[in-house]
Amino acid sequence: MSAPGQDRVLIFDTTLRDGEQSPGCSMTVAQKLRVARTLAEMGVDIIEAGFAAASPRDLEAIEEVARAVEGPTICSLARCHEADIAQAARALAPARKKRLHVFIATSPIHREHKLGLSPDQVVERAVAGVRLAREFCRDVEFSAEDAMRTEPAFLVDVISAVIEAGATTVNIPDTVGYTTPAEMAARVALLRSRVPGIDQVVISAHCHDDLGMAVANSLAAVHAGARQVECTINGIGERAGNCALEEVVMALKTRADHFGVETAIDTRGLYPASRQLAAIIGSFVPANKAIVGDNAFAHEAGIHQHGMLANRETYEIMRPEEVGIHRSTLVLGKHSGRHALAERVGQLGFTVTDVELEQLFVRFKHLADRKRQVFDADIEALLAGEAGETDMPWRLQSLHTTSSLGEGQIPSAAVALMGADGRSVREAATGDGPVDALLKAMARATAIDFELVSMRVRSVSEGEDAQGEAELTARIDGVLQAGRGVDTDIVAACAQAFLEIINRVSRQQGSRAPAWVQPAATPGHASPRASASG
Ligand code: KIV
Ligand code: ZN
Repeated sequence: MSAPGQDRVLIFDTTLRDGEQSPGCSMTVAQKLRVARTLAEMGVDIIEAGFAAASPRDLEAIEEVARAVEGPTICSLARCHEADIAQAARALAPARKKRLHVFIATSPIHREHKLGLSPDQVVERAVAGVRLAREFCRDVEFSAEDAMRTEPAFLVDVISAVIEAGATTVNIPDTVGYTTPAEMAARVALLRSRVPGIDQVVISAHCHDDLGMAVANSLAAVHAGARQVECTINGIGERAGNCALEEVVMALKTRADHFGVETAIDTRGLYPASRQLAAIIGSFVPANKAIVGDNAFAHEAGIHQHGMLANRETYEIMRPEEVGIHRSTLVLGKHSGRHALAERVGQLGFTVTDVELEQLFVRFKHLADRKRQVFDADIEALLAGEAGETDMPWRLQSLHTTSSLGEGQIPSAAVALMGADGRSVREAATGDGPVDALLKAMARATAIDFELVSMRVRSVSEGEDAQGEAELTARIDGVLQAGRGVDTDIVAACAQAFLEIINRVSRQQGSRAPAWVQPAATPGHASPRASASG
């Protein structure tokens, strides 16, 4: 990738790598592809689609993104190991524009306790990694992991060596979120003054948010001359997360007078991207979150409202429309057609293929039959569903739950699920409440062993027939899995959320259908709970 002009900052999105590797944020290949398309649509320069050597699924996701997503450069992370670099190169092969991103830790604590390498050995490995990566790819990024806790003079040596070896971007991560804006600016200035050839490469910042300074530190790096920022949608990522893309982009745009740089991001895509990701990974965006939170543009205090009416700029430094928030009073209903739906989807900032629109329209009609008015929030909720996931090993055929209050009453649930082979499995369970009973019954029917970690429900729109959104996180085989469901019946929304988890786990692990629904099961051994559904 050629170096940007001095007034242009490259946006390197790592939602699908650093973001996805944090607990509860894992995504299927199809979901990663949807996020990647959204990022491309928004004008992100580089998409880090994964860490190819981490797992076969990571490799597959990078390959898929590389094959299907046009526009941005597609990147894979790799350690400075031959096998990692070869895997990354393989995953990136279909990409029109590709980047190989190699890293090694450089700080004394990592060198000594994690790698067991001397400073010279670290330099040697870094150089060898970059040289090998250059054999596969002209665009090579090098990251000095834990750069901000690395001795400044040693960092200068490492960065000088990798530039000589062929790195085209040098990244200085604040891996543990420890640094301050002043330190970050000083580190960039040091590299710019001491590293030979630094003007020929792009300096990048990759900041974690442990002390809440990831965005401030990234901006300080840009102010000092960095021309790439690594960030994630909603700031997801390891521990407290990464620099939030929407925040750093809007800071650079709103304070262009101060920073004097621009990005290629179409900022109207920020809010839709945030909502899409939140729905996919099953996490709420806090109401007071900068740029994309529900309250980010709300003005409640009387004195503020008065000022806003007189002149919006009294209290508003950005317009909600600039970040893709369109408050509309227009509602759709059961008589609205495909065209009206497509138009509304476009106005909300989403892009869908014809096939996705068809699937969406079916879900929309289904919802409109049960709900008088379909609001923007309902459409966003539908858009965020598992569209495109046709490979659903399990389908929920029916559910019945009872709640209870009073001595001796026990909440219960009965479910029927259809497996991939078309057979129906019926199960029942009791629990602390109807949802507890429901999840237990569904888990029994699908032979999944789970521990519920969290459950959140909320109303996505207004009125007595508002849709409820349920987000569940469950631990299955030691891995956190999130699922989301939306329905006018909140218990059904919980069932959908859990079904999403069950289906994802089933797809990941191969069929988890119990023996009695496997085609190989002999009729004589079939469980009485399983019945042919025709
Ligand atoms: O935080 C970090 O140091 C990283 C590197 C691998 C870039 O994510
Ligand atoms: Zn990181």
